[in-house]
Amino acid sequence: MRHRLSVPLLPGSATHVVTFPDGPEIALPAGDVTVGVVRIGDTVRRPHQASSERVAAYLAHLETAGLDGAPRYLGRDASGRDVLTFLPGDVPGNPVDAWAVADGVLPGVARLLRRLHDASEGFVIAPPVPEPGRPSPLSPADEPRIVAQRDVTPQNTVFRDGVAYGLIDFDLSDWTTRSVDLANTAMHWVPMCDPVDRGPEYAYVDVGARLRLLLDAYGRDVVSASVFLHAAELRFAGSYDIMRWSAENLGGGWARMWDEGVGEVIRRRVAWFSAVRDELAAALG
Ligand SMILES: Nc1ncnc2c1ncn2[C@@H]1O[C@H](COP(=O)(O)OP(=O)(O)OP(=O)(O)O)[C@@H](O)[C@H]1O
Ligand SMILES: [Mg+2]
Repeated sequence: MRHRLSVPLLPGSATHVVTFPDGPEIALPAGDVTVGVVRIGDTVRRPHQASSERVAAYLAHLETAGLDGAPRYLGRDASGRDVLTFLPGDVPGNPVDAWAVADGVLPGVARLLRRLHDASEGFVIAPPVPEPGRPSPLSPADEPRIVAQRDVTPQNTVFRDGVAYGLIDFDLSDWTTRSVDLANTAMHWVPMCDPVDRGPEYAYVDVGARLRLLLDAYGRDVVSASVFLHAAELRFAGSYDIMRWSAENLGGGWARMWDEGVGEVIRRRVAWFSAVRDELAAALG
């Protein structure tokens, strides 16, 4: 069955309503916040959100810039859901599959992030409207700002033949800097947290060696070791207040994560990082 609704507006924009074939809905692995992400054929349907217009514009920019490792935003379906292209490949599960913990995947993740950042240059969105009481992410004052995906977790990375080639889930895309986004990626992928908060699959990782792989592949000419470590400090320090605000004001998955103790995980990460920072600086050389 096919549907057509109202007047088509800008193609590829979040107000563009077009005809998409219906078909069996295949459940996709659930993340932390967005409920109801499904696959139909070679498309993904996600609930329409306040961020959808911005995501549509960003994905259109990335396509024009030649990045093929991101979904295309196609419009909205008859139920009002956002429709994106499905990126075929392997996405690590949660807990992360053993293959995705291997050191050898990290350079590909860093190169993918670098391609995303390079392709994002020149894309501009309105700065966030300050909301009373809403904390802003911290970032180095002297680094140029870019828009980025800001959520490069294993579960948001698509692999083909064992190499990271695609990113999905652009809900958190917004202004950041290269170094802060690389620190955020390292936080999820290395991972950078207190050992008590690491899953058993990460029990034997060498954090310094894994960071070295990430930085070398991203390009130290763009993000040096000292810039990276400063960015990590800012990224980690800012997240407690942001998560608490999100839990209190957005509810849903944010509140659940808070109730499950993410605030304490963040506090332990800050203390861990402060204790090992010199060691990591030495490992990064
Ligand atoms: N365009 C896509 N191509 C391939 N797989 C996708 C795509 N979109 C989603 N998926 C699969 O569905 C899973 C969940 O989708 P997505 O990451 O968009 O939502 P989410 O993680 O539930 O959202 P949130 O992180 O906001 O809670 C992904 O981890 C991935 O396995
Ligand atoms: Mg996700």
